[in-house]
Amino acid sequence: MRTYNAAPGVFLLILCLPACGGETPASPDDAGHAFDTARPDLGTDAPTEVTEGDYTWVLPPGFAKPVVPATNPMSKAKVELGRHLFYDKRLSGNQTQSCAGCHDQAKAFTDGRALAVGSTGAVHPRNSMSLVNLAYFSVYTWGNPLINTLEQQALLPMFGESPVELGLSGKEGELLARLRAEPRYAPLFAAAFPGVADPFTLESITKALASFQRSIVSGRSAYDRWYFAGDDAALSPSAQRGFALFFGERLECFHCHGTFAFADSIVYEKKFAEVMFHNTALYDLDGKGAYPAGNGGTFEITHVPSDMGRFRAPSLRNVAVTAPYMHDGSIATLPEVIDHYANGGRASSNPRKSELIRRFDITAEEKADVVHFLESLTDEPLLTDPRWSDPWK
Ligand code: HEC
Ligand code: HEC
Repeated sequence: MRTYNAAPGVFLLILCLPACGGETPASPDDAGHAFDTARPDLGTDAPTEVTEGDYTWVLPPGFAKPVVPATNPMSKAKVELGRHLFYDKRLSGNQTQSCAGCHDQAKAFTDGRALAVGSTGAVHPRNSMSLVNLAYFSVYTWGNPLINTLEQQALLPMFGESPVELGLSGKEGELLARLRAEPRYAPLFAAAFPGVADPFTLESITKALASFQRSIVSGRSAYDRWYFAGDDAALSPSAQRGFALFFGERLECFHCHGTFAFADSIVYEKKFAEVMFHNTALYDLDGKGAYPAGNGGTFEITHVPSDMGRFRAPSLRNVAVTAPYMHDGSIATLPEVIDHYANGGRASSNPRKSELIRRFDITAEEKADVVHFLESLTDEPLLTDPRWSDPWK
């Protein structure tokens, strides 16, 4: 195993500077550097160990050290408590749904539905998101620029009322009483929050859920073996061509889905937090760029007209197992996602779309190549890894 090296040279190659990921990106030539598709010469798939307190992340090659809020340092005990809470239906008002109800490990922590359905049957306007590599994201959910920590985020599904997800609003006391009544929790809470007279609090719950989610790192895909570990046979020739297309200037994908995280709103040690939202022209209901009511992306929060339709570029790791796609699950398959981009957006007339969303020609073979590349981002061991599976079974 290598020990952590502050700035592996590879990041310099794949880092997307603000100029290449923002909404008014100069062409990469203006930024002075197109993506270098040469593979880094790491030649090893030995993971890097990063330790914080008594917790050790085993990071795949190419992954940076995550930043963790000083108010909630990692610990083994918190991760273990968080795992129990994540899979516990006591966390919903009517005890029918846990976080895992919408975030299934076998689907890279998504649910296979176009739109999520909460514990009372309420339909959520958005598609459940994957929960891998969350420790590296600077902002959470599809389009809310105000949710910057996982501790904050956990309160949304628990207490949100429109729509109801877990339906715990007004039931905080009942929730804590239920957890106290489960004998396995007393030692778990005590170990996670040592020295705290009564660790059964909402704050403990959100901290433990956040720690558990920060422990989920995904980077053992065929792509990782090929790109970082120099395993030439790990990617088919078709997927390798797809890689070059994805990181090329005709398709532009990498500007928004770049770096080891395959996303652009990211942060890690020694890197400032990048926060970006993009309009990919999924809708244009009125010729002025309107999206369906209640699903306008960051506009819902800021009410600034130019924010209409702007969403966060989600990570594309494991994307082959997270269908259907987009914030509202409105695209069923990966080939159709590529058609959307090739068309300059499904609603290409959208006057507010990002400059990077523009028509391009692509042959059927090239489309298959890009799909094969996206399929190579599936981290098979993640989908059954016992560290992140249901501890109650
Ligand atoms: C009813 C289904 C449902 C349940 C239950 C649920 N989620 Fe989610 N989750 C979603 C949806 C839908 C989104 C996207 C929300 C949005 O953009 O507004 C999401 C987004 C997230 C995100 C943001 C991921 C990212 O990349 O930004 C995190 C983290 C998360 N959920 C964690 C949890 C946790 C922890 C629980 C349990 C306390 C939970 N979820 C329960 C459906 C659900
Ligand atoms: C301008 C930035 C940008 C570019 C360029 C871009 N994307 Fe996206 N991508 C996004 C955003 C933002 C979303 C979410 C949009 C939404 O839901 O409204 C997204 C969503 C996706 C999704 C769905 C993921 C999921 O979990 O639902 C896939 C797959 C995808 N993009 C692939 C690609 C490919 C392939 C390319 C190149 C042809 C590309 N993207 C180019 C920003 C971009």
